[in-house]
Order: sequence, then structure tokens, then C-alpha cells
Amino acid sequence: MQSIREADQLPAALIALRAGGKSLALVPTMGALHPGHMALIEEAKRRADRVAATIFVNPLQFGANEDLDRYPRQEEQDARMLEEAGCDLLWLPRGEDIYPPGFATTVSVKGLSDRWEGEARPGHFDGVATVVAKLLCAVRPDIALFGEKDFQQLAVIRRMTQDLQLGVEILGVPTVRDAAGLALSSRNAYLSADERERALALPRALNEAATHIREGVPVADALSSAKDSLGAAGFSTIDYVALVNALTLEPLEAPVGPMRLIAAAKIGTTRLIDNIAVEV
Ligand code: PAJ
Repeated sequence: MQSIREADQLPAALIALRAGGKSLALVPTMGALHPGHMALIEEAKRRADRVAATIFVNPLQFGANEDLDRYPRQEEQDARMLEEAGCDLLWLPRGEDIYPPGFATTVSVKGLSDRWEGEARPGHFDGVATVVAKLLCAVRPDIALFGEKDFQQLAVIRRMTQDLQLGVEILGVPTVRDAAGLALSSRNAYLSADERERALALPRALNEAATHIREGVPVADALSSAKDSLGAAGFSTIDYVALVNALTLEPLEAPVGPMRLIAAAKIGTTRLIDNIAVEV
């Protein structure tokens, strides 16, 4: 695996990777890699001849009071994991490669970015859309892979890629969970053993709500009992538990069409998000 930092090393590395007309997949990450990220790399290997990954802790998508400074950083271990998984190229851009001095352009996906995570984290999706647009323009892959774990992010990136006509196929990959059901996340590293145990209430509440909705319980009742379960398990701030249209992310009062149950809540100082599909 070739590992590069400077953006001006990228064109030659890409020409070498693409030699002979090889297809290329890109997996953008912020590092602190876990099996959820590695599932994206594995799927990328199935979908394309060559795989590139990026690690960039993107300051533009963190709010002023968020965890940018304490976000886990473990580049050497990440590089080893990627190499072992058969990744061909790792780009670790420096801040100035992505945001040159005087940088003044942001990409904003209206509508889809407004609710849920966008409301709880103002500006977050502008930061995501901007960095992903920049990474896609720099690497020009045939396909880019993102996790369903960040369901709204995936929707925002799909819309952005279509709107800017970037000519990249966006593929969503199902959420990887630990044996107990907790969705893997770099932020799980912040949880104490006790918090980790209590965090299991999040996937449990979503699964219970999905079962209730399937059985015909009114959506509002299913959602409010999910919130009660989260509160009882020790989640403090519950930002949202909602049934949404899986394409528009608009809230649903009754089950119809492709649906997703989405939730975000805080346990201790750690904010967790999760989501599952609901089929009726
Ligand atoms: P990061 O949180 O590092 O996640 C990188 C990719 O891995 C994202 O597409 C995310 O959805 C996916 N992922 C994370 N946990 C997963 C899990 N348990 N199962 C499946 N996929 C999972 O998301 C970001 O970084 C950033 O916002 C980024 C897109 C890189 C832009 O900065």
C-alpha cells in the first residue's frame, strides 16, 4: 500500500493505480478504524480493481463545542489495518491540502441537511458535503462507499454527488455491530464499561420500536416508548427518535414506503446515533 500526505503526490499515485484502465473505489474516513470501516474496504475490493482510502479529521464538520481535539487519532495502526485488508492507496491529507489559505467555498445541501443531525449539529453537513466533494474531485474514483451507520450523511452525500454531477457512484454499506448489537463507532472509545453496557439500550429501543410499528402500534406510541426506554437506561439528552422516509428523511406519522427509524442520544458526555430499516 502506498501512503501519501501531500496533495501534489496524488496525481502520479492515481495514474499508477489506474494503469491499464483499472477501476477505482474510494473510502473516505476520519481514522480510528474499526471493523465498520473495514467492511467498507472489503466491499470496495469487491466492487473495483483498486481501493483508495483517506484519513482526514475534518475540522469543518465539528461544532465549536464538539470533540475535534479529543477525536481518537491512531494513524500507524490504521495504516496497518488498511494494508492488511488490501487497500492500495492511503491519502492522509494535511489541513492546508484540503483548506488552502483563504478557502471560502462550502457545499450546502438544503433540505436533507436541515433536520435531525443537522438541527442538533448546525453546520455539520456543510462540513461533510464540502470535504467529501473535495475528496471526490481530488481522487475521481468510479465509486465511493459510505456506511448506513450515518444514514443522513449517506443521503446528503448522494444528493450532493447528483447535484454537482460528479459522476461517482455512491454505495451505502450496512451497519456493522458488535456481538451485543451496538453499532461500531470511533466514538465508542469514549464510553466507560458501564456506559457501554447502557448504550445497548439504543439498538434495543430501535428494534422494539420497529417491531411495534410492524405490529400496528401507532407510530407516536412506539416512538415515545423508545424514548422512555432510553431515558430508563440512563441516556440523558435524547435529540430525536423518529420514523422517517428513507429517501427524503421527512418524518412519518404512519408507516408507508421505504422507512428508517433513526435516533440520537447522549450517554454521559458521548453522543451516539443509530438507525435501522423498518419493513411493514
Ligand atoms: P467516519 O466516522 O470515520 O466514518 C467513515 C465511514 O465509515 C463513513 O461512511 C461511516 O458511515 C462508515 N462507518 C462508521 N461506522 C460504521 C459501522 N459501524 N458500520 C458501517 N459503516 C460505518 O463519516 C465520516 O468518517 C466522515 O463524516 C467522512 C464521511 C469521512 C467525511 O469527513
